[in-house]
Amino acid sequence: MDITKEIQKLKEEKNAIVVAHNYQNKDIQEIADFVGDSFYLSKICAQRQEKMIIFCGVYFMAETTKILSPHKKILLPEINAGCSLANMITADDVDRLKEEYPDYSIVCYINSPASVKAKSDVICTSSNAIKIVRNIPNNKIIFLPDRNLGLFVKRNVPEKDIVLWDGFCFTHSKIKKDDALKAKSDHPDALLLVHPECREEVIELADFVGSTKQIIDFVISSPAKEFIIGTEIGILHSLKNLNPEKRFYILSQRMICPEMKKTILTSVREALLHEKYEINVDENVLEGAQRALIKMLKIG
Ligand code: 13P
Repeated sequence: MDITKEIQKLKEEKNAIVVAHNYQNKDIQEIADFVGDSFYLSKICAQRQEKMIIFCGVYFMAETTKILSPHKKILLPEINAGCSLANMITADDVDRLKEEYPDYSIVCYINSPASVKAKSDVICTSSNAIKIVRNIPNNKIIFLPDRNLGLFVKRNVPEKDIVLWDGFCFTHSKIKKDDALKAKSDHPDALLLVHPECREEVIELADFVGSTKQIIDFVISSPAKEFIIGTEIGILHSLKNLNPEKRFYILSQRMICPEMKKTILTSVREALLHEKYEINVDENVLEGAQRALIKMLKIG
C-alpha cells in the first residue's frame, strides 16, 4: 500500500492526528492535519478530541504540547530530533542567573527545555516576545535563551534593562550581512522577510521581521509579488501553496535545519504503528512550565 494511504488508515484506526511545523519536509506537511508554528500547533492539539498526537517537529515542541495536554499521548516520530538552541540552556543555568540577578523577571523563549520553562516567570514566542517583555510589570528582564531574538526585543523595548543569554539557532545565525546583500542585489524587486532568530546585521536590512506565521501572514496581505525569505527553507512549501501567483527566493540555500529534516514518511508510519516515541514531562516540572505558558496567554 502507498505509504500516505497507510498513514491515513493508521490515523483513523488509532484516532490520531498528525501535526507538522512549518519547517518540516514537504511530504510531511502534505500528510499533516495541521501545519503551523509550534505554539499554534500545541494549542490546536489541546483543543482537539483525539487522544493521540503525532508531532512532526523537534523535541521541545512535542514537550510543549505535552505540557498543554498532559492527558494525551504525544509522539515524536524521531526521538533525536532536537533543537540546538533549546539545548543551550539548562535549569542549573537559570538557578545561577537567579542568584546573580535576584530582582529580575525571567522571560523564556518557547524554544527551551521544560525544566527551564518551569523556572521562568513567563514564556514567549517569536511573535509575541516584544509584547510580553513590554507588558511584564518588572523593568528588569533576563531573556533566554536566544541572543538574536533578545537583541531584537531590546531594540524594540529600549526602556527596559534586558540581560541576554548567549544562545543561538545555527540555521539562522550562520546567515550574515553579505548573504542578505547578495540576495537583495540578485532580486532587487523582492522584499526581504526574516525571522528574529537572524543576526542583528541581517535584521537591519529586512523589510519585515517576524515568526514563521507572521511571515506567512505578511506575504498573504502584501501587494508585493516577490519575496526573499530569511528563515528555514521548509516554509517555502506553505508560502507557495498559499500564494501561487507570488515568487519566493530563499535568502541562502544553507537555511536548512537538519533536525527538522530527520522526520520522513516512514518515521510517521512507524510512530503510528508502534506508538513511539512517547514524550513525557516530569511531574514536578510540568506544573511550573504550564504556569509560565498560561501566563504568556494572559500577558500576550
Ligand atoms: P516559529 O515560532 O516562528 O515557528 O519559529 C520556530 C523556530 O524554531 C524558529 O527556529
